[in-house]
Amino acid sequence: MKLIVTESYEESSRVAADLYKNVIEHKRNALIGLATGSTPIGMYECLVDDYKRGLIDFSEIRTVNLDEYEGLARDHDQSFGYFMDQHFFSKVNLKEENIFLVDGAADAAKQEKRFNDFLKDNKIDIQILGIGNNGHIGFNEPDSYFTASAHKVELAEETIKANARFFEKESDVPRSAITMGMYGIATAAKVILVATGAAKAPAIKKLLESDHVDPQLPCSILHICEDATVIVDKDLYELT
Ligand code: GLP
Repeated sequence: MKLIVTESYEESSRVAADLYKNVIEHKRNALIGLATGSTPIGMYECLVDDYKRGLIDFSEIRTVNLDEYEGLARDHDQSFGYFMDQHFFSKVNLKEENIFLVDGAADAAKQEKRFNDFLKDNKIDIQILGIGNNGHIGFNEPDSYFTASAHKVELAEETIKANARFFEKESDVPRSAITMGMYGIATAAKVILVATGAAKAPAIKKLLESDHVDPQLPCSILHICEDATVIVDKDLYELT
């Protein structure tokens, strides 16, 4: 696992975008793994900017997103599909048929199967991850074991509280989600995790201090990923 310490969140976003750009330049139909939350927004801004300047072509690129809240359709303004439309999909020349999103409003068991079938047939070329305050990646919450396949998950109380800032009130936050499991993440050719903000320091500190792969710290799966890079700004790094 590599560590890159940058001067700022903006620089972290640029570094992450450059890693994506490099993959896309070498493979026109790469499968790029995407994430939501506030952290990857800066990377999407950089990629959109590169696209507008004619530096990246997404016309053959395929995408897959890590997760979705159960019960929220793509047109719900708090769904991750909606987030992706707002921040990225509507701003670049991706083709709709090349976008894989879990449909949160559809039957969860069917969506799990559809997601697992997709991941079985398609290997991710690069996957960006944010990180929850408790070390979760996607919606793989701390537990006594890792789940390999895409699955439905009950969200941790801490995650519901942390994500309440995006909703009108905490009770509006869905209690469950469908997430890519550790198989999809760990078999990606490249994995990058971007973290910023003091709230992430305890989880990042634990990740950097040991090479134990511990399901109570889901991000620790990065220790066994073939090509993993953690990107943090110096303000966060100083707290670890
Ligand atoms: C959600 C997402 C994660 C994301 C996390 C952190 O729980 N499922 O993929 O990493 O939020 O979000 P933020 O980047 O806003 O701190």
